[in-house]
Amino acid sequence: MDAFTYSAPTQVIFGQDAVDLIGWHIVKEASSVLLVMGNGSARNNGAYEATTRSLQEAGVDWTEFWGIKPNPSLEQIEAGINIARKSSVGAVLGVGGGSVIDAAKAIAAGFYLDDYWERVESRKAVERSLPVYTVVTLSGTGSEMNGKAVITNEQLQKKWSLGGHCMIPKVTAIDPLYQVQAPWKITAGSGIDAMTHIMENYFRGRIADKRTGYFNEETTLNICEGLLISLINSMHSLQHDPSNYEARANLAWASCLSLNGLTGCGLSGGDWTSHALEHALSGRFPHIPHGEGLAVIFPSWMQQVCAKAPDIFNRFAATVWGQATIQDGIDATRAAFSTWGAPSRLSHWGVTEKDVPHLVENAFAYRDLGRIAPLSKEDVAEIFMRIL
Ligand code: NZQ
Ligand code: ZN
Repeated sequence: MDAFTYSAPTQVIFGQDAVDLIGWHIVKEASSVLLVMGNGSARNNGAYEATTRSLQEAGVDWTEFWGIKPNPSLEQIEAGINIARKSSVGAVLGVGGGSVIDAAKAIAAGFYLDDYWERVESRKAVERSLPVYTVVTLSGTGSEMNGKAVITNEQLQKKWSLGGHCMIPKVTAIDPLYQVQAPWKITAGSGIDAMTHIMENYFRGRIADKRTGYFNEETTLNICEGLLISLINSMHSLQHDPSNYEARANLAWASCLSLNGLTGCGLSGGDWTSHALEHALSGRFPHIPHGEGLAVIFPSWMQQVCAKAPDIFNRFAATVWGQATIQDGIDATRAAFSTWGAPSRLSHWGVTEKDVPHLVENAFAYRDLGRIAPLSKEDVAEIFMRIL
């Protein structure tokens, strides 16, 4: 098992009426907050009303910043930073899905930066940020428990992240009831996203002893498998009954644990190629939802690299899907995504062969790819070509 540091400092308040407490937590650190919102779903599901009531009761002043779009843009972050500075807020509270929460974190960090995008390009961790709080209305990204914000520079077509320990939310409130009316299409993409966070880490697991089949990272691999099975079961239940509270709750909690560092312990940073490719994809085509992009890319990546790490791919097939071969495990993954209604080809969004060279360059612009085994630009082009 590789050495690691694990820290998940977010206080999670989970369950019905959890949001009532958010104001009381914020007021311990700040008397005013920037309330970052999406495009209106929080008004319909009750999260906005519950949040503002809690702020009011705790005596926290707030300034509202609405309109964060899926795959939030640098332009929106800069506008939010300006408002936060003008209002001299002492904290930032995001109420929404991953896009709103990422925007809240980016604004909180940007509050102290001269040039937000310059800092993103520098790849240096952020050391100072306003405290961040979240109320989750869509679970999947895990953003509510980690220190990353993924932002799109639409001009440069780059979807890159900024991160730092200080950007990890202090307190996150999750009331699964706010998610019961989320459309199935959005739920499916989010659940698939959470699964891929685990799998990005999992496939770096190694066999230590071929005779006993015991793995180096047995503990983390078991956690990963347990979370994957929980997510798969929740997804199947929700597809039949989207209002199933228990399934929503399990999906929400498993999503948190999938990307708060836990599933990567001892796995030397995971692989994360599929995420780099998806960010290249939705960086160029910002209308593509992150989870749906991954549903298309991830199985193709599995196909490309499975021969380099057959032991772990075999174990995945057997433990997660009850399948006998690597290929059956990949096919079962693809079939589940498709049963849940996710697209399976990039042509679904009008992406064609002529876009591939740009996508490949864009993906490599941030870093080299392939930690299970190094990937060349030709390998990555093959991953995209297979799913056109
Ligand atoms: O804007 P509103 O009106 O809120 O509507 C949203 C949006 O249209 C809607 N929605 C949210 N909660 C709802 C709801 N609709 C009905 N009922 C509810 N309760 O859902 C739509 C999608 O929301 P969005 O926040 O974009 O989705 P998601 O949570 O999948 O977030 C995607 C973003 O997170 C980034 C992605 O790249 C993408 O930009 N990620 C962030 C990560 C992180 N910070 O750790 C890791 C991930 O891998 C990912 O990259
Ligand atoms: Zn993701």
